Amino acid sequence: MSENADDLEQTLVLAAAAADSLQYEDEVEENETESIQETPGEISYTSSYTIPTRHSPEAYDTFESEQRSVKKRKATAVENLNHTVSYQNNSHISKNLKAEDESQTSEYSHTQVVATHYNLLEEKGLQERFKSQIIHMRNFHNWIKSMLINEYLTKIKDSKKQHNAPIRVHDMCCGKGGDLPKWKKGNITHLICSDIAEVSLEHCKERYTHMKRRCQRERGGGNMFSLEFIPGDSTKIRLREKYSDPSMKLDLVSCQFAFHYSFESLPQAEGMMRNASECLQPGGYFIGTMPDANEIVARARKSDTDSFGNSILQVTSEFDLDNPPLFGAKYNFQLDGVVNCPEFLVHFPTFVKLAKKYGLKLVKKEKFFKFFERMKDEGRQLMTTMRALEMYPPGENVTLLGNADDDYLHAKKFVERLEKNSGSTKIGTLSKSEWDASSLYLTFAFVKVKNTWNADGTPCYDI
Ligand SMILES: C[S@@+](CC[C@H](N)C(=O)[O-])C[C@H]1O[C@@H](n2cnc3c(N)ncnc32)[C@H](O)[C@@H]1O
Repeated sequence: MSENADDLEQTLVLAAAAADSLQYEDEVEENETESIQETPGEISYTSSYTIPTRHSPEAYDTFESEQRSVKKRKATAVENLNHTVSYQNNSHISKNLKAEDESQTSEYSHTQVVATHYNLLEEKGLQERFKSQIIHMRNFHNWIKSMLINEYLTKIKDSKKQHNAPIRVHDMCCGKGGDLPKWKKGNITHLICSDIAEVSLEHCKERYTHMKRRCQRERGGGNMFSLEFIPGDSTKIRLREKYSDPSMKLDLVSCQFAFHYSFESLPQAEGMMRNASECLQPGGYFIGTMPDANEIVARARKSDTDSFGNSILQVTSEFDLDNPPLFGAKYNFQLDGVVNCPEFLVHFPTFVKLAKKYGLKLVKKEKFFKFFERMKDEGRQLMTTMRALEMYPPGENVTLLGNADDDYLHAKKFVERLEKNSGSTKIGTLSKSEWDASSLYLTFAFVKVKNTWNADGTPCYDI
């Protein structure tokens, strides 16, 4: 093991940005109990900010029926093209196209913009990636995904009566297949990979072929799962119809860093949720990661302008901060050249309600910080291997990657405290800028519930 890894092993701490993020944490924790309870008249994004009557928990049902009856607007192909082009030029969609109006009245959606964005993202070489200011944050997110996937694959395996029973998984919005090694390690049997960005899917295919060849070459390389690819918009097409076997029953659906794109409109969110749920067998899980709307709204409200961020992150809200719509609450997200495209707030209580409609019961929702706290001991070795944290103080001839003035103050203070007790020491950390970005995310897990049938033939779930 390298010196770096040994040091991380000795003292591992995510000391970053604790003050700021914990402050938000408190607000959100309070809110979670408040917002999920069925308070007539209002639902809160954070405990101190409430949203007027139309966003009551019942508003989702009203919204749903309103949406169904709204006439389709004639958004022309030329309009779509203009949108795509303006995003490619990094300019914002004009504000007079109000997000909510658009989502309620138009067939136009941003999915093509998102697809174009991901298709144009370059595959950066390892060299290039190591130079990135956010390499450790990306690794940290990868670690979170690994731990989450492993947690639910373990539950699935434990629940199977038969040893070596097949495990079938759908990686929804799989991107370039960054999670393929996790599926291999999890020893699954079959994987479905779907994504709207066809170029990304091509990368994913290449990666799989490469892994499979290596697996065949190496003795003891383990079993390689079978794989099928589905290109397409999972908010709009019924993915099951594209499966090699549409009657296939899945054990796990994973949607990492992507469900929020569907919250552009209710029909899209429903389409995506149906795709996530309908092939899961009872007891199967739907897991994922996505931005935490509470964090975004809270930070945006604290800022004097419509933007907040730091040297690596810029979030610009394009929705009414005092009255965010349930769907179509658009913001622009820029992260050190990794993502720069429109995203949508996911109002979590609405997400839970939508999931319930499709037979999915919430098992756990955790902010990244909480997830880390729960998993850090179990995942210590993996964190070291994945270089999920940066060593502080850095080794000889190593430059810290963060470049904001206060990026390592938290680490410095932490090390000083440790040194008082145990002499010279090193810790693993993220820069404050990275942690400001990372603490915007949460993990979620739902379990598929067994259904009974109503007299009219619709499924009925006891959730
Ligand atoms: C941030 S990337 C995450 C990729 C992968 N899940 C990961 O964790 O590395 C988001 C992915 O969602 C895909 N995506 C966004 N909207 C989609 C939609 N409506 N249908 C299918 N894929 C979509 C994008 O093309 C992109 O590959």
